[in-house]
Amino acid sequence: MSKRVAIITGSSSGIGAATARLFARNGFNIVINYSRDPAPAQAVADECRALGAEVLLIKANVADDNDCRALAKAVDDKWGRADALVNNAGTTRFVDSRDLDGLSAHDFHDIYAVNVIGAFQMVRAIAPLLRANPGAAIVNVSSTASVAGIGSSIAYMASKGALNAMTFGLARALGPAIRVNAVGPGIVETSWLEKGIGAERYEAARKAFVADSTLAATVLPEDVADACYWLCTGAAKTTGEFILVDSGYAKFPVLGAR
Ligand SMILES: NC(=O)c1ccc[n+]([C@@H]2O[C@H](COP(=O)([O-])OP(=O)(O)OC[C@H]3O[C@@H](n4cnc5c(N)ncnc54)[C@H](OP(=O)(O)O)[C@@H]3O)[C@@H](O)[C@H]2O)c1
Repeated sequence: MSKRVAIITGSSSGIGAATARLFARNGFNIVINYSRDPAPAQAVADECRALGAEVLLIKANVADDNDCRALAKAVDDKWGRADALVNNAGTTRFVDSRDLDGLSAHDFHDIYAVNVIGAFQMVRAIAPLLRANPGAAIVNVSSTASVAGIGSSIAYMASKGALNAMTFGLARALGPAIRVNAVGPGIVETSWLEKGIGAERYEAARKAFVADSTLAATVLPEDVADACYWLCTGAAKTTGEFILVDSGYAKFPVLGAR
């Protein structure tokens, strides 16, 4: 029997790269996807190959439906199957929530195009391949921003809230063949936040997150990868679920008690 296939969007760095490595280590063939910079994507592809996976390295902007369909066709041509889709590619603009004039309609459109429509287009393109495999699953990488009212911008929070709602709808629409779930990471140790707000503010945000979270820790890309992997390969009776991976930050904040 051919090996299972996992497609991880935005897998050239951070959470996506950790997720790709975990699936590769566990015997999956892998699609590594990026939209801009091929060098880190190539490095992750090499790591996955070293872990025993066959790899398709695909430049595709998930906001472009033609790219999503071309990615699905490449998977079908190479392996003729797909077992897991992790919609991890995401984007934001960093705008203080109180600065209502700092956020334009264009910002909303740009962020929704990737975080919501991109995820939907990937699901639509890959669903026919997933449907053929019992136990196939989709995980959408959302954020605590979708439920905590804190995040890089109001548009980003709204987009991740929409991604949660879409997860619930798709879980009904694609069952019983395909399970669909979402994860909500807190502050994850990737370059995303540091690049967005600068080293100094990043350190302050990191410290505040550690101080306010029940487990007194930021989240590692590998922690989110673990949750994605479990939701795809275990979790046989879990669908339409949103799981926080945030050291207890959103649900059980310490609120200065420490
Ligand atoms: N880091 C955090 O604190 C945090 C917290 C909660 C949720 N998240 C979510 O986790 C996900 C990954 O974040 P990360 O921290 O791992 O970020 P990251 O290290 O910046 O990685 C983002 C990945 O997405 C790719 N990408 C961006 N736009 C894309 C597009 N339109 N089409 C395809 N690929 C695209 C990037 O490659 P290219 O630049 O080459 O396209 C890169 O591979 C995002 O959905 C983010 O919202 C992150």
